[in-house]
Amino acid sequence: MRRSRKRPTAPAPAAAPAEPAAAAPSDTGSEEDLSATKWNFFTEELVRTGLWAKLTRVPSLTAAAVGWAWRAGRRDLLVALGASTVAAVLAAVSLVSVTRVLDALLAPGPITARVEAALPAVAVVAGVAALSGTVRLVSELALSRLGTQAERLVELELFGLTTRAHLVAFDDEEWADAMYRARDRGMYEVPRMVTATLEGLAGLVSLASMGGVLAVLHPLLLLLLVVGVVPTGWAATRAARMEYEAQRRLSTGRRRRWILGDRMASRDSAAELRSYTMRDSLMADYGDLADRERETMLAVAWSQTRTRAVGGLASGAATTLTYVSLGALLVSGMMPLAAVGTAVLALQRTQGQMQNLLYLLNRVYESGLYFADFTEYCALARAHLPAPPTAPPPARLERLEVRDAVFTYPTGGAPALHGVNVHVEKGETIALVGENGSGKSTLARLLGGLYEPQEGTVTWNGTDFTAIGPAVRERISVIIQDHTRWPMTARRNVTMAQDCDPDRLAHAARLSGTDEVVAELPRGWNTLLDTTFASGVNLSGGQWQRIAGARGFYRPADLLIADEPTSALDARAEARFFTTIGEHADRTGAAVVLITHRMASVRMADRIYVLDRGRVIEHGTHAELMAVPGRYRELYTLQADAYSAPGQG
Ligand SMILES: Nc1ncnc2c1ncn2[C@@H]1O[C@H](COP(=O)(O)OP(=O)(O)OP(=O)(O)O)[C@@H](O)[C@H]1O
Ligand SMILES: [Mg+2]
Repeated sequence: MRRSRKRPTAPAPAAAPAEPAAAAPSDTGSEEDLSATKWNFFTEELVRTGLWAKLTRVPSLTAAAVGWAWRAGRRDLLVALGASTVAAVLAAVSLVSVTRVLDALLAPGPITARVEAALPAVAVVAGVAALSGTVRLVSELALSRLGTQAERLVELELFGLTTRAHLVAFDDEEWADAMYRARDRGMYEVPRMVTATLEGLAGLVSLASMGGVLAVLHPLLLLLLVVGVVPTGWAATRAARMEYEAQRRLSTGRRRRWILGDRMASRDSAAELRSYTMRDSLMADYGDLADRERETMLAVAWSQTRTRAVGGLASGAATTLTYVSLGALLVSGMMPLAAVGTAVLALQRTQGQMQNLLYLLNRVYESGLYFADFTEYCALARAHLPAPPTAPPPARLERLEVRDAVFTYPTGGAPALHGVNVHVEKGETIALVGENGSGKSTLARLLGGLYEPQEGTVTWNGTDFTAIGPAVRERISVIIQDHTRWPMTARRNVTMAQDCDPDRLAHAARLSGTDEVVAELPRGWNTLLDTTFASGVNLSGGQWQRIAGARGFYRPADLLIADEPTSALDARAEARFFTTIGEHADRTGAAVVLITHRMASVRMADRIYVLDRGRVIEHGTHAELMAVPGRYRELYTLQADAYSAPGQG
């Protein structure tokens, strides 16, 4: 299993929250996933993170949040910031007016005169309250607009990166985990972080203005204010950290549970699940994973409650201290009664605001942790993006060559291809044959510009694929072995991202046998091929394969790679396919790379490459390969004999 490269900190078992006890054995490999020490190195860092460390992270998080907000909606950001400033000024004005009201009411003289004297200040307090309400509405509207806009931006960023990254990234466990975390929560936390940061900024400005008023009343009040909120703030941040740490540690197990759940609920696996009576074993695996998650989360809830209780007690003591101090100031004559009255009000308001601010700081910090997952994934994805091309877009194919290619999947193990040399020229048809797992599909992906070899080269007319970049794929059409059943109409399943050209569509449909499939569909080409929608229909495996074939033929390309394009086809459709692929190559002048286990169909190829455990062990024409004893002759004779053997059974 791979470790994240980012955090080499040693595990700190003593500081780590207790792992849940091992559950009953199961064969999912989930123990390994859940007890994996892969996230433990993170624990120490989290346990060490105190309020101060958090505060030091806030500037960079704020900058990031404001950056997202700026990109999401400049006008809304400016409105939100403007509204906060106005609200802060209004809060200070309101407090000062309250002092005036109290001053007037507590002054000597008849009560009617005192009330009259207080009236202008009361009017100001009332006016400010009404205005503050309006300002708050405006700010809330701007913030919610920003939230939804940021959400959209973040989703586009994430999917923009996932769809551009090198295909090989998808075979990497680190990638899969990072993407799961980014998609599962990271993505949704960014808008939350944006709104919390802006609310926090607003709170900070308002606090500064209230703090100013308090400092004028008596500087000691500022100290009392801080003493009152620190304990709750400490408890809240600690609780958030515990939760995040657990979420992160559970991430791999959750992904596994999610996948299992998907298998139990999805249509694709429903039949096999029943045939192989998988229900009990899947439910047990799922239950195991869910139990572990529950135990961890319950332990977290318990620790959080203890922490919050300690924070609450300390905060109660601080409040007592505040009122005792105020009493002392009043009795000693250091503050007049009106000022003490305003101070009580101001302290209550500011303490409320400080609490809110700490809550927001916490939210920013907490969302910031998940946001870090998102940015971590984006950074990982950017590291997997193709380098900018250094060569011009490729010209029409003359010669494609794979030289001394070595390719190993990111999961490690033996290379799937070692020292492979293959070439194909304009108009040629080559075939790749070999047993299961010999590396044919991997080689097809190298030829198709989907994987890059770690050693050796793949060149298009002599220029390296890496220099050309993704543009090379514009000239290649691949009929993929595990083709995707796109939940779209039959037409789009063939034309894919291209515009529909009726002639080409009809041609591709005829070559692949899709014409017969579409003729039976209730809405012809417009039929939705997705049974999860009422108007959708389902196709058989062979019918889908015909569609995948048509997809390959429809795309104008200099090179057509067909990876087992007929494995699910009936005998007639298969025979038709192999005749028409030659017709297609002649008509378009395209080179063809054909991968198939049907040996009779590769006889006509200009060159046949026989693969074995990632190496090309033989190559030549059918006649050349049949002339010598070897793997090709063995495989070919085996199949030919099966057909010609008399009286089977
Ligand atoms: N995504 C992957 N991650 C890790 N290893 C892989 C992956 N895909 C294939 N392999 C391994 O690479 C080797 C070659 O696989 P490949 O799919 O190229 O074989 P193939 O010749 O196309 O087989 P088949 O005839 O079954 O289609 C196999 O050992 C396989 O286990
Ligand atoms: Mg294959």
